[in-house]
Amino acid sequence: MTSQTLREARKYEETAEKRIAKKDRPLFHLSVRTGWMNDPNGFSFYEGKYHLFYQYYPYDCKWGPMHWGHAVSCDLLHWEYLPAALAPDEPYDKDGCFSGSALVLEDGRHLLMYTGVQRVKRPDGTYDELQTQCLATGDGTDYEKYEKNPVLTGADLPAGSSPSDFRDPKIWRKPDGTFRCVAGNMAPDGSGQILLFRSADGFDWQFEKVLAENHSRFGKMWECPDFFLLDGKGVLLISPQDMLPQGFEYHNGNGTLCLIGDYEEETDAFAWESDQAIDYGIDFYASQTTLTPDGRRILIGWMQNWDTCSTYNPGGSWLGQMSLPRELSIRNGRLYQAPIRELEALRHDRVEYRDVTVEDTVSLEGIQGRRIDMELVLSGVDGQELYQKFAVRFAQNDQYRTSISFRPREGIVKVDRKFSGSRRAIIHQRRCQIDGADGRLKLRIILDLCSVEVFINDGEKVMTAITYTDPEADKISFFADGKVRMDVVKYDLS
Ligand code: FRU
Repeated sequence: MTSQTLREARKYEETAEKRIAKKDRPLFHLSVRTGWMNDPNGFSFYEGKYHLFYQYYPYDCKWGPMHWGHAVSCDLLHWEYLPAALAPDEPYDKDGCFSGSALVLEDGRHLLMYTGVQRVKRPDGTYDELQTQCLATGDGTDYEKYEKNPVLTGADLPAGSSPSDFRDPKIWRKPDGTFRCVAGNMAPDGSGQILLFRSADGFDWQFEKVLAENHSRFGKMWECPDFFLLDGKGVLLISPQDMLPQGFEYHNGNGTLCLIGDYEEETDAFAWESDQAIDYGIDFYASQTTLTPDGRRILIGWMQNWDTCSTYNPGGSWLGQMSLPRELSIRNGRLYQAPIRELEALRHDRVEYRDVTVEDTVSLEGIQGRRIDMELVLSGVDGQELYQKFAVRFAQNDQYRTSISFRPREGIVKVDRKFSGSRRAIIHQRRCQIDGADGRLKLRIILDLCSVEVFINDGEKVMTAITYTDPEADKISFFADGKVRMDVVKYDLS
């Protein structure tokens, strides 16, 4: 039975979507159907298609009572909107259907697990927020909330843990057929912990253990966990709130964290050995993964961040897009990310230059565009002193430019979007450190009208930022302080 609240949202989005011109949207990044989008939810492969749900407030370009928007795709690049899947229409989720995940049940139903939010008035007039975990099953379009919701509540938490900060369940099925779920929670010490729950059938859930504890090392509350095995290692992805920068890591306030370590399938024991950010740019948060039918682990994130999303666009009718889906692997104990290989099918009009010497500013015939896939391979010039700085500037005209620069002596890669159409005084630059002392660097830069994603040295680090630059600004130029040898290959994407 579809509720009145969900019917209204479905009717509204269908009309409102028509007011947004396709040319003003990203082409191969999923953007919100109308209104506001945050986290990716329920990322899964079901009945021949990828399903991606998202935190959704259709009625305005800002966060409001959360619904689940819904889209499907065959290649993770061309997305088709489906009607909103969930609305806040039950007593236990009346103040929002927060983030969650999905999997496919043996009987062919699609199972969603999400956080139901309910604000409860205390006798003194103030409010308490209760976050509980809830289920819905469906056929890929329509979903029915489970009659026994909520299935996990404050009563299932270890002593002293907060029932107000208990959210974002990520569910999966183990090789033995049983189910597991990780969820973010606030521990008695006021910082995050990731809880692990188990179930025999996906409906009846029990607390198993605390999988990882923060002790305030990485921010405070931990949101949006995901846990999986990758290249023989256990990987726990988390989006921590209120992070403190450490060197060149964790500068985003609301940041991303990847813990890698040993995981024992039998006992669910996870001992992490290393930590790193997932993305080193400005706009990336709340990521979630799924497995493709051919076994690739794919990550997608909200291409925004709570610290920088005061980008309220006067007169705009949509705000929010997802990152490019990325293929994950572990190399030398680190998480690597590559743009999904399906992107190669969108490439056309290859333009290539080899052995270009960049000195001062250089433009190259045919190298321009706002929906492109461009790879640069840089090195110093033999017999010359190592260069001081290299920069590629794009989305450029007399008024605008965005740049990626590299200073090999310091090993610093910087994204700078000061002149990218933002009317807000938010952070517009971010740096990350790589080992580049010999002047060698590989950059794969993907532009889709209103975003840039840079994969550095075959995906060792990724920097993501959204841009608001006028679509007309499509020039690209290269700059060097010193001499740089550069190979460049560029494709248009459509
Ligand atoms: C992360 C988050 C989640 C929550 C959702 C609410 O961005 O805060 O923890 O479920 O957004 O929209």
